[in-house]
Amino acid sequence: MDTLLLQQRPAPGVLLLILNRPDKRNALNQALVRALDEALATAAADEDVACVVLTGDQRAFSAGADIHDQHAHGADVALSGERLAAWQRIADFEKPYIAAVNGYCLGGGNELAMMTDFIIAGENAIFGQPEINLGIFPGDGGTQRLPRLIGAKNAARMILTGERVSAERAWRMGLVSEVVANDDTVTHAVRLAAGIAGKSRQAARLAKATIRDGLDLTLADGLKLEHDNLRPLFGTDAQKDNMARFAAGERSHSGGEPARHRTSASA
Ligand code: COA
Repeated sequence: MDTLLLQQRPAPGVLLLILNRPDKRNALNQALVRALDEALATAAADEDVACVVLTGDQRAFSAGADIHDQHAHGADVALSGERLAAWQRIADFEKPYIAAVNGYCLGGGNELAMMTDFIIAGENAIFGQPEINLGIFPGDGGTQRLPRLIGAKNAARMILTGERVSAERAWRMGLVSEVVANDDTVTHAVRLAAGIAGKSRQAARLAKATIRDGLDLTLADGLKLEHDNLRPLFGTDAQKDNMARFAAGERSHSGGEPARHRTSASA
């Protein structure tokens, strides 16, 4: 196990990844980005992983790209092909993926959190894109993902001022899905992840892909994508079983696979 990135299995079907560079506020140096990239590649191929939760510690989810690396090597490290390819694979992770954020979530930390499907924040979470204070601007997706999430004006304010944003304000802007007590952030994210892991994996994966890919399309093309991705779900065991149970009056069905198809992880 790479000590820069701790891995736990807190619930069936759920992988918890913990950024573990606490003395450096989980700054994302090359080794940590590589460890995250490799862990997600393994998780993508692992039948026992249906949903991933990514977290840091109470002081920092992550304080962003490693400034010491960038000070020493400049664009050669910030925009290296290896680094950009790793970020792309991390952003393209195909299974549901939740960020559980406590403490500082700055720069590349916020850009990483935005690559996940949604963010659960503790009350102590502090978001920001402070790169302007270093004479640069966000380069791990911030100038593109942030405006798509919170609107161009809110994103411009964060990126141009570099100001820090509280969890409450981040929630009001739509960056954060829910704010919870500091000690509940990870357990709540894991609870949500376990719920997702218990539903049809094919439906969850296609729903995620449809949301993500649709953001780059016109509404008309997005609707076509929606219909194309929905069609194969009709006829799956999960669809037939869950709809049959609803039609029979049962209200406790969970959206998961029929019992005979469940693996130990999805049961
Ligand atoms: N890159 C590299 N190292 C970082 C880092 C980063 N982005 N953020 C923090 N660190 C390191 C510090 O250099 C320090 O290391 P040292 O103890 O060896 O000197 C250690 O983490 C603790 O940082 P410190 O500033 O003392 O902690 P703090 O709790 O007082 O403040 C922050 C935390 C996050 C507010 C502050 O470190 C900070 O502003 N970091 C930079 C954030 C940023 O600009 N991110 C965008 C990067 S492009």
